Amino acid sequence: MLKVSVSKEIGKSTQALIIPAYKEKKNIKLYSSSAVLNEQTEKLFKRGEFDGAPGSSVKLYDIDGYETVVIFAMGKNKDKYPGEESRRNANSMLAQISKYKSADIDLRMIDELATDLNAEPAKLIAATAEGLILGNYKFDKYITKSKEESKKRRLEKVSLITELPKSSSIVNEVKQICESVIYARDLINEPGGVINSEKLADEVKAKGKELGFSVNVFNKKKIEELGMGGLLGVNAGSAYEPRLIIAEHKHEKAKKTLLMVGKGVTFDSGGISLKPGSKMWEMKMDMAGSGAVIGAMTAIAKLKPKLNVVMIVPATDNMPDACAQKPGDILKMYNGKTVEVDNTDAEGRLILADALAYGIETYKPDVTVDLATLTGACVVALGYHAAALLTNNDELAADMLAAGDESFERVWQMPAFDEYDKQIKSNFADVKNVGSGRDAGTITAGKFLERFVDSKPWIHIDIAGTAMLPSARDYSCEAGTGYGVRLLVEYAKRIAK
Ligand code: BES
Ligand code: ZN
Ligand code: ZN
Repeated sequence: MLKVSVSKEIGKSTQALIIPAYKEKKNIKLYSSSAVLNEQTEKLFKRGEFDGAPGSSVKLYDIDGYETVVIFAMGKNKDKYPGEESRRNANSMLAQISKYKSADIDLRMIDELATDLNAEPAKLIAATAEGLILGNYKFDKYITKSKEESKKRRLEKVSLITELPKSSSIVNEVKQICESVIYARDLINEPGGVINSEKLADEVKAKGKELGFSVNVFNKKKIEELGMGGLLGVNAGSAYEPRLIIAEHKHEKAKKTLLMVGKGVTFDSGGISLKPGSKMWEMKMDMAGSGAVIGAMTAIAKLKPKLNVVMIVPATDNMPDACAQKPGDILKMYNGKTVEVDNTDAEGRLILADALAYGIETYKPDVTVDLATLTGACVVALGYHAAALLTNNDELAADMLAAGDESFERVWQMPAFDEYDKQIKSNFADVKNVGSGRDAGTITAGKFLERFVDSKPWIHIDIAGTAMLPSARDYSCEAGTGYGVRLLVEYAKRIAK
């Protein structure tokens, strides 16, 4: 992870100095008191060699004792999304810096800049640190580098130069959250052949020990005793045992309990209703919901909001096998309801249903939130810019929608009208695991889950689009983005108040 720190003064031995600039109307404004710099920048701007458009930069050498000085033009934040443009500015800066091959840099951030960019000074610092750390991530552990390449200088350290009081605690919190996002990204991007249900449970146990949150793992025998027919049905074709992973954060001053449930399908082949081969590899990321809640749990364990948090991950892969469940099979779920399996590829809702029913009965949470890469229909409806939200409690959704705007992990509410229920009516069981017809696939999946939450306050978030990107975008990497960690942490903070 990129090392970001704060300092009041510009370092003596730093390789490069970044000076922000902002173009207002026809003028370029430089946030530096150095006369030489101001003069040089003005010249380049007038000559058209530096146009000052957001994301553009120009480099100057050997000024004020610096090897390299980069003048970087920033863009202004929008009212609705405070900080987002600053995260993007920070990420564009990374691309510019990489050209100059400096291992450590100083970046000047001052109050006046924040005002001009339409951000609170604290928000500018936080968002800049966030954009830098997240934008610098790559899942490249399996790429064997040539000796030559590993010798190349790579950005390692950034100091934010600011006199803002509390800036180091602001940046520390951002670092802790980003560390959790990166942890989630790593888990999600890891191949299904490496992370199976048993390994995922071991991983969470180890993390719990490291960070001091309690973890309890149910094995197959316990899951059978509890009668979790959904999790067992999906796991029937697997070479590994299913796991129900439970983690807890307790706060003595907590007034509320939040239950977070994440879909932990470590690989989704579709099962007997096998998926087509093209892009099937993406289904190694079908545990992105679990990545998000596990990541959020690690951040919560570090930040300790005044809230009790329970995390549950039902984990298995979904494989075709002689023992695998078949279309037409009928499962008896933890809450006693029966489900006709019409399509074995609609497996996420089966394992979530058991986890939700168990979690709500056992922990009696004030709010339950589940995150899941549940439906391809969600990608069709919303693409990669928002996750779909369904709820049985509209008032509850307001905080989540606001947390989405704040973190820029945006969510968009879909209707959960009773009329959609007809689509999951079964002739042979209480409910069917797919809707008749492909219409409103994201909604019918949510309506299926609703049958297992006992009318308790619940929010479902389908992250099929936002959790995995076809290519890098701003400070999000391609593939597993870790979407949901920042959203959940922001949500937890809001409801802890
Ligand atoms: N994991 C998939 C959904 C998915 C698809 C996530 C593409 C991310 C990208 C899920 O288990 C699934 O296969 N859903 C089916 C449901 C259908 C059979 C009703 C789908 O969306 O096709
Ligand atoms: Zn599936
Ligand atoms: Zn799936």
